[in-house]
Amino acid sequence: MKPATLDPAYRIEEIRAQFPILRELVHGKPLIYFDNAATSQKPRRVIKAVSAYYATINANVHRGVHTLSNLATEAQEAAREAVRRHINAKHAHEVVFTAGTTASLNLAAGSLAPLLLKQGDEVLISAMEHHANIVPWQLACERHGAVLKVIPVTEDGTWDLAQVPFSARTRILAISHVSNTMGTINPVKDLVAAARKRGITTVVDGAQAIPHLLVDVQDLGCDLYAFSGHKMYAPTGIGVLYGREELLERMPPWQGGGEMIDRVTFERTTYAKLPFKFEAGTPHIAGIIGLGEAVRWMKDHHLEAMAAHEHALLVYATKELLSIEGLRIIGTAKEKVGVISFLIDGVHHYDLGTLLDQQGIAVRTGHHCTQPLMDRFGISGTTRASFAPFNTIDEVDAMIAATKKAVKMLRG
Ligand code: ALA
Repeated sequence: MKPATLDPAYRIEEIRAQFPILRELVHGKPLIYFDNAATSQKPRRVIKAVSAYYATINANVHRGVHTLSNLATEAQEAAREAVRRHINAKHAHEVVFTAGTTASLNLAAGSLAPLLLKQGDEVLISAMEHHANIVPWQLACERHGAVLKVIPVTEDGTWDLAQVPFSARTRILAISHVSNTMGTINPVKDLVAAARKRGITTVVDGAQAIPHLLVDVQDLGCDLYAFSGHKMYAPTGIGVLYGREELLERMPPWQGGGEMIDRVTFERTTYAKLPFKFEAGTPHIAGIIGLGEAVRWMKDHHLEAMAAHEHALLVYATKELLSIEGLRIIGTAKEKVGVISFLIDGVHHYDLGTLLDQQGIAVRTGHHCTQPLMDRFGISGTTRASFAPFNTIDEVDAMIAATKKAVKMLRG
């Protein structure tokens, strides 16, 4: 039965028509793309904006007096302003462009650590973090003699808020807004508020939240918020680290080079003002312009309506998947984005992923860069389906049918 929650006013065909890749065949079958949490597909508008930059205004930014350089600079800074508005940052210079969430979190850890961490201090993360929000903090802790502490995760895939190990030595809280593996939407605002009351600096990994939620960094109250372009319809290789002005001013530069300086002598270098202090080298100009266009595309197509559609798909797919004998979902929180991770008795996730691919269905299999979370559940990996605004109920039905067929075949 089709879910009553699917909104008939949602113009899915119009959305689908904007993604050229949906016309591709995989193994002779129409592509069914359920790997959106790994990377999103790109609407034609974004592809065009990137290509128009290269075709008409390709030049370096903030460097030349010539016309093309000025046009490229204007396009880049317009994208910064579009991102600022999208996340409701106070100032455009609080939006730092990076290569992606991983680079943003490495910047955060690399710059905050010398500012905040001393021997015996603590950095607090959670057990559901992506490796990108674990390893940079481990490296920082190793360098400064600090200790990594972990908020445990309960059986339904939420934080165990009764066991948050805040202490007098906690200096940094680094947590994900949404779990990439389970789709759990975390109560970030509450935890950030509790941390800030204790004078703890807060860093949020927003990689999986930004494609689905209207993120308001001022309302969340966090100090830093990291995300990638490629998960929100923009190109790969571009990301953002939002930071509160006052903190960014205090943070030392992370990488050195051109663009991030004010004056260089062999004796001493002074640094450029925000955000350029954190943007060494020629930026990914085309990516930034693509990100600006992706943000405009999300606004024009009403992010909330698209997220509601994804939620309806999540509810339907969850119910249908659970009808498969021996299937267990990892991550059953009440508040979730359109991400489902599951295991099936007697079926290896890799084999299932391979058989689904034969039917043109793209899912992710494995540990999803969350090995400690896999350890928490005592598993080696899952099959993960993650939804986008262009996915349909028919596609979910096709995945369920293909999964049932694969299960039969694999169980013999
Ligand atoms: N972090 C991405 C994922 O969850 C790659 O698939």
